[in-house]
Amino acid sequence: MEELANELNLKKSSSGNEIVSELERLKAEAMLKNDVCIEPLTGDDISILSQCSNSTKEGWRTHGLELISRGEVAVVVLAGGLGTRLGFDHPKGCYDIGLPSHSSLFQYMCEKLLHLEETANSRFSINSATINLYVMTNKSNAAPTKSFFEEHKFFGLKSSQIFFFCQENIPVIDYEGNVIQEEGGHGDVIRTPNGNGGVFKGLAESGALDDMDTKHIQWIHFVGIDNIMIRCADPVFIGLCDEKKVDLGNKVVRKMNPTESVGIFCWKTPKEEASSSSTPSEQSSSPSPKEEQKPKRRYCLTEYIEMTDEEKHRVDSATGRLSFSAANILSHLFSIHFLHKCCEQRNQLKYHVTKKEKGYVCEGVSVPGKTYKMEKFIPDSFALADKVATVEVLREEEFCPVKNSTGSDSPAVARAMLQNLWNKWIIAAGGKIEFPEESKEKQEESICLVEIPPQVSYDGSELEEYVKGKVFHHGDIISK
Ligand code: UD1
Repeated sequence: MEELANELNLKKSSSGNEIVSELERLKAEAMLKNDVCIEPLTGDDISILSQCSNSTKEGWRTHGLELISRGEVAVVVLAGGLGTRLGFDHPKGCYDIGLPSHSSLFQYMCEKLLHLEETANSRFSINSATINLYVMTNKSNAAPTKSFFEEHKFFGLKSSQIFFFCQENIPVIDYEGNVIQEEGGHGDVIRTPNGNGGVFKGLAESGALDDMDTKHIQWIHFVGIDNIMIRCADPVFIGLCDEKKVDLGNKVVRKMNPTESVGIFCWKTPKEEASSSSTPSEQSSSPSPKEEQKPKRRYCLTEYIEMTDEEKHRVDSATGRLSFSAANILSHLFSIHFLHKCCEQRNQLKYHVTKKEKGYVCEGVSVPGKTYKMEKFIPDSFALADKVATVEVLREEEFCPVKNSTGSDSPAVARAMLQNLWNKWIIAAGGKIEFPEESKEKQEESICLVEIPPQVSYDGSELEEYVKGKVFHHGDIISK
């Protein structure tokens, strides 16, 4: 109980009932937003990458590669999850989505880093470009994750550039305020991972943050393991953020429909301050300096379960698009200074609370009864940032999370999206695709999955020498 009280910043001696009251308060606060207004980001808040000129993007890319060549870029992959929803009882990163190569999600990610290192080496005529990789696991998938990397010889990366660290597991409490113990076990308390926001404690306490400092890393790209299209350590994104000297960069895609399960970037303003700022007479009589009278709106993320139906469906009459449409794809670039700030203030991140009406399985742990699920979220740290870049990218190029075994966000959808993207890249680079005989008449629906592994191309560029004038068939894997 003391551990939970501590996590919730309550007094040590708090009872189960007091903890339950606090959890109910946090839950209501997140949902009702009694004390804050949320407002959509506007066009001025977002850089739309597809509207930037090629020369601007090329400039950012060169600058990003230069930072990579100096070893100043690292990736933190959030891999503290099992693929339970995929019907896969192993770390999610080990999952094979059924591509011709049968590469796992981890392999895809590591090969992208290898590709960028090689590109930076050849661009700057060096041989030392290194992107350090920090892999966050939870306690139950730490050992299998490490073994998977070892079995696959770290997918071509050096073992010295990979740092594994664990997030914390916290006790589970039920509706009556009792900490739950394993049934028929040795009275051990049941624990579940503390959400991806547990990364700050994990980095600080495992020595990973010190390791970043020792290696003079300047930019840290946080990515989810489940998005197979993620452009980890994207030099364009890094170049842009470095040039704009921001604390933090976030990639977004446009939300597909009101009910899509994605978090939305927005502004949050304390209601009291918002209303005081709208009454200028009161403002002028206030003795505080002018700056302090402005409502302190903060850049934030609101998760889909914490949005009202009205907010989800609200349409911007000027554009005809959803007002809250800057969807989080879990691609966050932190400057090292900002990461230090977040790690120092990690205890201020509030827990997000959901009520589980019946037993469930979380990361291989069976949680019985009616319980509270408590998670910290990385995006809550964004309110600490002074300068942020929000960069809109194309969903069909960069966002394809693999979360469910069927339906939306499933491996089948991911394969189809990759097929579309890769076919486009092949044709643009002068290659041809021969569709199977039986599906020629209905070409749009035909399956012709030609794989472009990340070693060959990271983003569709530098592909011509491998595809121009060649014909590819279903199941081919393009190689160098
Ligand atoms: C997350 C985002 C959501 C975004 C969506 C895009 C957060 C809080 N929410 O939601 O805004 O639109 O992805 O796909 O970031 N993980 C851990 N430890 C944990 C829990 C999760 O490492 O305790 C990792 C998972 O392995 C995964 C990532 O965090 O890589 C996202 O986790 P998940 O719980 O699937 O997030 P979503 O609810 O989909």
